[in-house]
Amino acid sequence: MAKHAMWSEKYRPRSLSEMRNQAEIVGRLKVFVEAKSMTHCMFAGPPGTGKTTAALSLAHDLFGERYVDAFMELNASDARGIDVIRTTVKEFARIATISEVPFKILVLDEADNMTSDAQQALRRTMERYTETCRFILCCNYSGRIIEPIQSRCALFRFTPLKSQDVADYLNHIAKTEGVEVEASGVVALVDIAEGDLRKAINTLQAATSLGKSVSEESVYKVVGRAKPKDVRELLDLAVKGEFMKARQMLRSLLVEYGLSGSDIIKQMHSEIFKMEIPEKTKIVLADAIGEIDFRLTEGGDEEVQFSALLARLGIMAGQGK
Ligand SMILES: Nc1ncnc2c1ncn2[C@@H]1O[C@H](COP(=O)(O)OP(=O)(O)O)[C@@H](O)[C@H]1O
Ligand SMILES: [Mg+2]
Repeated sequence: MAKHAMWSEKYRPRSLSEMRNQAEIVGRLKVFVEAKSMTHCMFAGPPGTGKTTAALSLAHDLFGERYVDAFMELNASDARGIDVIRTTVKEFARIATISEVPFKILVLDEADNMTSDAQQALRRTMERYTETCRFILCCNYSGRIIEPIQSRCALFRFTPLKSQDVADYLNHIAKTEGVEVEASGVVALVDIAEGDLRKAINTLQAATSLGKSVSEESVYKVVGRAKPKDVRELLDLAVKGEFMKARQMLRSLLVEYGLSGSDIIKQMHSEIFKMEIPEKTKIVLADAIGEIDFRLTEGGDEEVQFSALLARLGIMAGQGK
């Protein structure tokens, strides 16, 4: 059981046909499987969108049982650097596969964290072993990869999964695990994940430890955030000039969710832009929040700074109208 302690691993697809969405990418990779041949690839996109999963699934579908010998994953940002990659790749690619697929697959995670010197060295390694080894470079931004490598790779752009896909997947996992998740809990998980399925699954799993059923509250608690609704209400109070009520509410949020001053400041900052207030008002509010954030990092007293902030929000919003 320990093997599957993490749900994000337990529910990781093992085949391209099990992958959620990313339909265009899956379609292109399936062509590789049918042809039993592939080019070097670059998988670019934000975390938790299925880059590693797609590489693993491709390898499973291509190699079947033999996948253990023919597939390897390395982290390119490993402190030991390019030398490790070179020697590892040499060892890995040197021994040819005896299957009908005449190459191995090496996945390099976080390739965009490599220095350009390291990337040049990688380029030479890719060239040298291109007969026996195909590279899949995973990165957040393809633009950080040097041109000569980019031009050798087919580019696959991974986009954040749609809210509905994330929700469906979470519901599927919850059902399989026999965990109850409230509808508002799913909405909260989707909100926190921002298209990152790993984050969504990990947060779901963490939230189940807080109680029998996963609710909006338990989700935000487990990530150390207040409910956005509460933060919005706090801002509304402050902007309306209800200073004492706003102060009371802020205090209870800090206590109830165990938040630090800077946690709540970050949330206030992102909520402002979702409020239905004039653009000008948003600017002055963001400025006030930025100022207090700075003072807090400089060691200003939280209680005093927050009072000052709430007071300023009231005054400035009044002027901005
Ligand atoms: N398209 C997808 N379909 C199904 N599960 C996915 C998909 N993308 C991500 N996941 C899930 O999210 C986890 C993280 O995905 P991963 O491929 O490791 O992300 P990345 O490499 O892009 O950071 C996986 O273990 C898997 O459970
Ligand atoms: Mg990955």
